[in-house]
Amino acid sequence: MANGAEDPGQVISALEDLRRSDIDWRNGRAFSLTYLATPEALELSERAYAMYAGENALNVAAFPSLRRMQSEVLGFVSELCHAPSGAAGFMTSGGTESLLMVSYAAKQRRPEVARPNIVLPTSAHAAFEKACAYFGIESRRVPVRADWRADAAAMRDAIDDSTVLMVASAPQYPQGVVDPIAELGDIALSRGVPLHVDSCIGGMVLAFLEPFAGGTVPFDFRIEGVTSISVDLHKYGYAAKGSGVIVYRSRELRDKQVFVTDNWLGGMYGSSGVLGTKSGGPIASSWAMINHFGREGYAKLAALTRATTLLLVDAITAIDPLFVMTKPDSTLICFGSADPAVPAHAVADALAARGWWVDRQSPPPMLHMTVSAHHDKVVDDFVAALRASVADVRASNATDGSSGAYGTVE
Ligand SMILES: Cc1ncc(COP(=O)(O)O)c(C=O)c1O
Repeated sequence: MANGAEDPGQVISALEDLRRSDIDWRNGRAFSLTYLATPEALELSERAYAMYAGENALNVAAFPSLRRMQSEVLGFVSELCHAPSGAAGFMTSGGTESLLMVSYAAKQRRPEVARPNIVLPTSAHAAFEKACAYFGIESRRVPVRADWRADAAAMRDAIDDSTVLMVASAPQYPQGVVDPIAELGDIALSRGVPLHVDSCIGGMVLAFLEPFAGGTVPFDFRIEGVTSISVDLHKYGYAAKGSGVIVYRSRELRDKQVFVTDNWLGGMYGSSGVLGTKSGGPIASSWAMINHFGREGYAKLAALTRATTLLLVDAITAIDPLFVMTKPDSTLICFGSADPAVPAHAVADALAARGWWVDRQSPPPMLHMTVSAHHDKVVDDFVAALRASVADVRASNATDGSSGAYGTVE
């Protein structure tokens, strides 16, 4: 390929060939990186994306349809998070951009602080390290408790006059548990420090489990000390990649993330986030998903995914020597191996050889699964593959397995 003479049909068939070596996530083989509700919703999302792939949300004056869709998506998520009146937010390209922008906004809010720091648990997402590196902020990581949740008292002790932001997660990615957000909210209020709740992966699940499936603790703006929340549509909103939302308690807080300049020859340039040109595709896909599922549809998906998660937890626990790190609060599973002769990462290698993808984590060596609604169709196949993979590893005398990486550089 790449000789410039291929017709569209040849190009598409070359793409089809290329993707044959990828993990078969459309059939539920990936418990990481991808999210699948139903084949019908996936097709709708991709059609909506394709319709708007070339539209540019850099300037919605030219594309009022994108302005409207953004505002409706933002309104949907704000309502879910019980945002108070006066709250305001933006769409972003996803979790990392949301966490970059909330960190930048926190720094901008306190221009007098020479060496700003963010106080966050060791479990908070790696994107906060990126934010700190990009914006010259100290990352003040505080060890989590034995149950993997943030240690509120230790976080309180880590705060000083240069702390511009505290962070909690609902849930945190590595072990899938929700931090004690009410407690952290009290500390944030008493110290006058903003508190961001990273609900990038959990927002579209926890918000629906609470009223319909009877049960999670509040994690959102109902907690007074919470000043901002991030929720991704490209995760459990089942939208195409490139879509997140950040909501601030007030417009004043939100405006700190805005960048405006006229210091060049092209006139006034304003933007809300890292990107300049921004495809309309993720916005249209997100809008399509919220209109396709609505609150009731998402509630059903969340309840189904939660039930599948609990089934998988029981099945994993029943395979010797596997054990789960903790009972998940949402739809993420983290498990390890109690036998050095069956290293967890070697089990992931054996699963990959059988066409299944799970995440590898450390420390300590652990495996991570992000369960989607569609996974209820593959529970039995996956559990059989996991059992066989454990047997393969035991027979192979493996000593570790490839540690892999959550994100890659090339
Ligand atoms: C809790 C949490 N925050 C942030 C992110 C980063 O999101 P993204 O990969 O969309 O940039 C993730 C990704 O899984 C996450 O789980």
